[in-house]
Amino acid sequence: MNDLGSMRQTERLTSDEAGLARAADILRRGGLVAFPTETVYGLGADATDAQAVAGIYAAKERPSFNPLISHLDSFESAQRQGVFDEMARRLAEAFWPGPLTLVVPVAPTCTISDLARAGLDSVGLRVPAHPLAHALLQKTGRPVAAPSANRSGRVSPTDADHVLGDLDGRIDAVLDGGSSQVGVESTIIACLGGTPRLLRPGGVPRESIEALIGMRLEAGSEGGKNPLAPGMLASHYAPRARVRLNATSVEADEAVLLFGQEIPKGADAACVTLNLSKNGDLVEAAAHLFSYLRQLDASGAATIAVSPILESGLGEAINDRLRRAAAER
Ligand code: TXA
Ligand code: MG
Repeated sequence: MNDLGSMRQTERLTSDEAGLARAADILRRGGLVAFPTETVYGLGADATDAQAVAGIYAAKERPSFNPLISHLDSFESAQRQGVFDEMARRLAEAFWPGPLTLVVPVAPTCTISDLARAGLDSVGLRVPAHPLAHALLQKTGRPVAAPSANRSGRVSPTDADHVLGDLDGRIDAVLDGGSSQVGVESTIIACLGGTPRLLRPGGVPRESIEALIGMRLEAGSEGGKNPLAPGMLASHYAPRARVRLNATSVEADEAVLLFGQEIPKGADAACVTLNLSKNGDLVEAAAHLFSYLRQLDASGAATIAVSPILESGLGEAINDRLRRAAAER
């Protein structure tokens, strides 16, 4: 199970007791299992086993400087891995289980491998809300490192078919739990002393966090050469097609991603069109984002034109992912 990079048969596991038991068994033996969370599918490995974690980097072809999020079944388990100051504790109590990742100082009792932390003295922790993820973490009984289950630089997967499209033959199994409900990755907040910083907008809107902590969230240094969240490189989440944002008119040979009722000029004649949410509902739009990008990309169009999307609530995370998809590469 551990010979890295080699081809293997990828099992598709069902979301019942037998599937869960099999998934936990593979994880405990050092294998790679993709599993559903409410944000996106994660590619899991035993976070305490450096060789298993190395398998994640190999399967994803991920640059090794990029630290991974470790997933836990409870806040209690998380407190064995990281040090929670007052602010981190309040955030964990309010938003876990859920689409929030906290970057906190490593605890003396931390068992997560250096490799999963990319050698940093901080650690990214998350307690997901998805019932299958929760059951799997309980059965596995260890922190599970899991980045999104796509090849590095590609669009994050929100169902088991997306995972297999990228990773079939490169991982041991995928636990099929249907479509992810939130559709964008977790919000990442660093609590490393001083005021909490937003490293990545995501499934918990900034407004909800600011309401809880009673202050405006400062942004962590994003992009650039030494981003605080090293995964936040400017070009990421890249479909093959070029992505053109804030389109108010489109050409006939473009694929079009709409939002709401405001239809760009020429969209009727475009080769393929999908609407993230006809009602302009940002929650619905987030849930559709990655699978619609994939579908439009698969049409073969050279460019995907995207309608303007509101910046409030989940719109901040949606626009962040779209800007990355549109960045120069
Ligand atoms: O919703 C999600 O967060 C999904 C699901 C599977 O949980 N996971 C996910 O993981 O998006 P990934 O590996 O694609 O993104 C992890 C982000 C990266 O930008 C990484 O740099 C940052 O978290 N990160 C992890 N640990 C960190 C640390 N100690 N310090 C700073 N950034 C960290
Ligand atoms: Mg990712």
